[in-house]
Amino acid sequence: MNSEEIVRLCKQHTMYTWNKGDAVNPIPIDRADGIYMYTTDGHKLMDFNSQLMSVQVGHNHPKVREAIKKQVDQLTYVFPASATAVRARVGKLLADITPGNINTFFFTLSGAESNENAIKAARLYTGRFKILSRYRSYHGATNACMQLTGDPRRLANEPGTPGFVKVFDPWPYHYSFGKTDAEITEQNLRYLEEVIMYEGPDQIAAMFIESVTGTNGILAPPAGYLKGLRELLNKYGILLVCDEVMAGFGRTGKLFAFEHGDIVPDIVCMAKGLTSSYIPLGAMGVSDPIAAHFRENVFWGGLTYNSHPMGLAAAEAAITALLDEKLIENAAKLESVMREEMDGLKERHVSVREGRCIGLFGMVDLQKNSKGERMAPYNGSHPAMKKFHKALLDNGLFTFVRWGSFMCNPPLCITEEELREGYAIIDKCLAITDEAFEG
Ligand SMILES: Cc1ncc(COP(=O)(O)O)c(C=O)c1O
Repeated sequence: MNSEEIVRLCKQHTMYTWNKGDAVNPIPIDRADGIYMYTTDGHKLMDFNSQLMSVQVGHNHPKVREAIKKQVDQLTYVFPASATAVRARVGKLLADITPGNINTFFFTLSGAESNENAIKAARLYTGRFKILSRYRSYHGATNACMQLTGDPRRLANEPGTPGFVKVFDPWPYHYSFGKTDAEITEQNLRYLEEVIMYEGPDQIAAMFIESVTGTNGILAPPAGYLKGLRELLNKYGILLVCDEVMAGFGRTGKLFAFEHGDIVPDIVCMAKGLTSSYIPLGAMGVSDPIAAHFRENVFWGGLTYNSHPMGLAAAEAAITALLDEKLIENAAKLESVMREEMDGLKERHVSVREGRCIGLFGMVDLQKNSKGERMAPYNGSHPAMKKFHKALLDNGLFTFVRWGSFMCNPPLCITEEELREGYAIIDKCLAITDEAFEG
């Protein structure tokens, strides 16, 4: 099949996500290796978003590939009530590397399924119903996760299942500027405590947060926020669930992003980087008291593909590669290079408003005037953003361009030289958004 046929048949017979089928313009991908992907026409693209912020170890890793092949020869599937060697090993491995008293894992197939099961676990464990989450969040596309999600993808899915209460995260754009981290934290937690009062503290099972907000802005919490939040929720017996689906597995320069705040949640949800996306797998990790509860009480949840050997084999190899090749350390080390490059873009381009990163988790916001108004508003678009996106691809760089921002989330195996090469392409293409700058 040639590229046109591939695209035509994909569009004709398969549905695409989050878009009208006729509006998508998919890139036909033939293969990928390291930090690069190659189109069916042989065009080489640097993967500056690790696909969906998930291919941590890079594409086509020989050891992950080998582990998957080995598992195919050993055992491809058994039902979830079985015990397998790979399940035993990955459970133990995750218990060893996850901080604190999180030692027990329920395996799923995706981030959304991990969060769905965390909602269930929190409700069953506490006997409470309500769930708090934040507006600037994405937690998955399944029914309950859409209600957990704050961003606009929730809106078309409303009304949904009841019991979900949204709050502001600590960075509401317009009134946090100029304040210290301590002031922002204090103000946000005071507001949150008031919400908890109004909603009824003994009704609230859990609060879900992305430890570092992902798609909705790459927003690391202000210093002290995670500790303060942990204490506040403890005061009311509300569980803290950290959704580490995007921020976990080294993306922020630590294995889990909550480690930056020196806390341990009650439940941690993971997927994406767990297998570097080689095979679908998610997990919900629970603290010892929650695990003890479900040793004596039924966990009312199940999946045909729970603890799937293929996913577990990929997870074992991907985590081992992440640790052995010191990719988390690499992400931490290259944070300063990414920041320096972002600062350089801001100096050279009037359309660059701000760049942020933690580890290799980064985003740059573009502006259309010197008042700092976004090039495209929240949930909106602008022709210059589309042109900029196309120019990136034409110049050999793949990344996500969303609203008035673009993502900088390369695989964690990227070198300093490659990272700078990526920014050189971006630098060139920003001439387009500079041209759209209104002054
Ligand atoms: C923070 C977060 N949680 C959950 C999800 C949902 O994961 P999945 O698409 O694997 O269901 C995502 C996906 O992007 C995510 O970023």
